[in-house]
Amino acid sequence: MNIFVAGGAGYIGSVVSEQLLQAGHSVTVYDNLAKGYRQAIPEGAHFVQGDILDEAALDDALGARAYDAVMHFAAFIEAGESMQHPARFFRNNVTGSATLLAATARHAVARFVFSSTAGVYASKNSPLNETDPIGPASVYGETKLMVEQMLRWYHEIHGLRYAALRYFNAAGATPPERGEAHRPESHLIPLVLQVPLGQREKVFIFGDDYPTPDGTCIRDYIHIRDLASAHVLALEALDDRPVMRYNLGNGAGYSVKAVIETARAVTGHPIPAEVTPRRPGDPAILVADAAKVRAELGWQPQIPDLHAIIASAWEWHRAHPRGYA
Ligand SMILES: NC(=O)c1ccc[n+]([C@@H]2O[C@H](COP(=O)([O-])OP(=O)(O)OC[C@H]3O[C@@H](n4cnc5c(N)ncnc54)[C@H](O)[C@@H]3O)[C@@H](O)[C@H]2O)c1
Repeated sequence: MNIFVAGGAGYIGSVVSEQLLQAGHSVTVYDNLAKGYRQAIPEGAHFVQGDILDEAALDDALGARAYDAVMHFAAFIEAGESMQHPARFFRNNVTGSATLLAATARHAVARFVFSSTAGVYASKNSPLNETDPIGPASVYGETKLMVEQMLRWYHEIHGLRYAALRYFNAAGATPPERGEAHRPESHLIPLVLQVPLGQREKVFIFGDDYPTPDGTCIRDYIHIRDLASAHVLALEALDDRPVMRYNLGNGAGYSVKAVIETARAVTGHPIPAEVTPRRPGDPAILVADAAKVRAELGWQPQIPDLHAIIASAWEWHRAHPRGYA
């Protein structure tokens, strides 16, 4: 299939692009490089630099050839920032997605795979399945939910086949080529690894008074390679299943303190940590029940172990201490 990958120069989109190419698909990455990197785009992918807010540029790019599917990774991703600058997130994530969806319909692309998030759910002490109550704790989560709602109507009105994939915490790397280098970095594992890299003195723990066993937030870390493989499966299943909504996670939760402890074991560095107040928009616990995608698509994560996930990240960061620079 010919796949148009919006946001394919980013952390997740670049690894998905690589796996799409490996599966024999043809890939066009469309990205404004605001947060992504030219170097992350795999060899063999065609690249168009453009913004999903730019209707004319989207028309040029989507009109250049017949696409079978759009995959949409292009968004601002930092929940904390979304609580300070909601307008940025509504514009980029909601208006941008609306512009991309309208172009998808204009160019009669039949399939759509969307990067949603566990942040659409209300936090819960047990693993979340797809029928659990919705209740975003941040503007960021709300923007993703709004796009899921748009997709429902594009299916109803235009027959768009779509998969909304609700990721838990994407983590790890695919060394030697690709790894996590967000701008600015807000994700726990790369921030923790900056300490042994000599780029920061200590790591901050945002709150240790959550209702969890050690008081720190609990998340489900899913290896980027496993996350990517679910996209290829979902894309290829869309002809049989016109609407899919799946959680992507391992089903195991690790606290912030447990992640830091594991990173100490992986790197052999003491990694000092300091507790600071909670950040707005951080739910206490987000852990996936991903039974549905396993049963329906036969998805099977290959790298569920946190130590192995952090080890892959460490290998990439040691080889690329300044990221893609
Ligand atoms: N990283 C995670 O743990 C995680 C968890 C849940 C959901 N997600 C979602 O997955 C997607 C990818 O996340 P990521 O970690 O790879 O982030 P990322 O920032 O590395 O990648 C996003 C890419 O989209 C591009 N982009 C952003 N706005 C754009 C625009 N207006 N026009 C064109 N390109 C634009 C950026 O340049 C970047 O290359 C996002 O939609 C995010 O919300 C990520």
